[in-house]
Amino acid sequence: MSITLDYTNMMADVIGSEHGIDDEALAELAVRAREYHRHILQRRAAGKLPFFDLPQNQEMVEELTLLADGIRQKFDNLVVLGIGGSALGTTAIFKALRYGHNLKDASQRGGSPRVFVLDNVDPDGFASHLVLCDPARTCFLVISKSGTTVETTSQFLVARHWVEACVGDRFREHFILITDPHSGILRELADREGYRSCAIPAGVGGRFSVFTPVGLLPLACAGIDIAALLKGAADCSRFVCHDDLLSNPAYLNAALQYLAYGKGLTISVLMPYSDRLRDIADWYRQLWAESLGKKFSTDGSIVHTGPTPVNALGTTDQHSQVQLYMEGPFDKVVTFIVVDEFDQELPLPEYAASPQMAYLAGHSMAELINLEQRATAAALAKNRRSNCALRVPRVTPESVGALIFMFEVQTLFAGYLFNVDPLDQPGVEEGKLLTYALMGRQGYEQKARELSAQEARLSPRVLACR
Ligand code: PA5
Repeated sequence: MSITLDYTNMMADVIGSEHGIDDEALAELAVRAREYHRHILQRRAAGKLPFFDLPQNQEMVEELTLLADGIRQKFDNLVVLGIGGSALGTTAIFKALRYGHNLKDASQRGGSPRVFVLDNVDPDGFASHLVLCDPARTCFLVISKSGTTVETTSQFLVARHWVEACVGDRFREHFILITDPHSGILRELADREGYRSCAIPAGVGGRFSVFTPVGLLPLACAGIDIAALLKGAADCSRFVCHDDLLSNPAYLNAALQYLAYGKGLTISVLMPYSDRLRDIADWYRQLWAESLGKKFSTDGSIVHTGPTPVNALGTTDQHSQVQLYMEGPFDKVVTFIVVDEFDQELPLPEYAASPQMAYLAGHSMAELINLEQRATAAALAKNRRSNCALRVPRVTPESVGALIFMFEVQTLFAGYLFNVDPLDQPGVEEGKLLTYALMGRQGYEQKARELSAQEARLSPRVLACR
């Protein structure tokens, strides 16, 4: 297992001192890193950061593998119902390690069900997935840490009704509820109605939960080697759980992003050059945004801080976004993810009828994609645009586990640098409460009145073309 962070093109000697970082700034942060690291160790010892210890949980792997085996034998389809941290990690790892899975037939899938992660309440999107499945052969994982999230509970109501209409009283056998061990509507329902359930360990928040049953159960059902995934994460601890900033890629990458932010590069683009890793950038976008985008600092002052994460895909977005990155405002750091060796090389064959394409023959598609990344990085640097690259040797359960774990530690450490709590998300609460009010939930009548009063004060400006 190895991860390489090449940050040459973020440094002042390459892209200039206006947006580039110098060694003195890094040295200063290295001193702070030791102090933050001590604090992280204390919090871990006090059981306050349980996500750190998930990769070592062998017992959980055994239990979930057994449960997944049962699901694989009984069902053709596995549908994950969840949103945010309850869905994005599963999607990212599933795509990385089972690319094209649902397009394969049952024997090519090696006995695994098709896996759908439904993370929205768009009725067209939801219904068009249900029609692809036979309710009698479909298992639902209903995933919500709080057990109250309106999108997930609504999905559950529709799915439960749909299954019951087909199998009658046996509908409970088609649902597993993955939620808090003690609280929330889903936990209460599991205990009272006898649904099978799994507990998300206390203290592990949604976006840090992919190495709990939240991600591991659906991934094991898809036939992914979850032990190897966790081994990659555990091996990565060696690199990311020590106090030397310059040799810890998680701390160093957080520090680079933080210093770049201080120089006005407030947009953080993550751009894998790999279709399989595309959704890792989507998962990371949520992790970085919800963890660091905050109004208050940890000491209670108003800061309105946080880099804006953006996901892109190489080479696809060279023909969509890179023009902006190259010549638009100086407000971005681009982090590439590079895969050294692809599973397929795909040599580019000769074609005598086209001499203009002759230069391609003898190369391969694997070579081309990585050379294009190199060319883009060099062109950005030439234009004084900050960029860096994370390299993994191949896309394997180990390397994906390591990347995910590294990003989690990076985000925690970035919380210290930005002086915010990366484990909460107070800013999404008001919208949730107003939704409850609008949906007529008991206890939210006052909120509904406040909203009506707020809307009544508006002078609507609406352009409707009919
Ligand atoms: O990271 C988080 O905490 C959030 O994105 C949650 O995962 C998301 O809001 C869904 O919450 P829950 O898992 O409680 O349904």
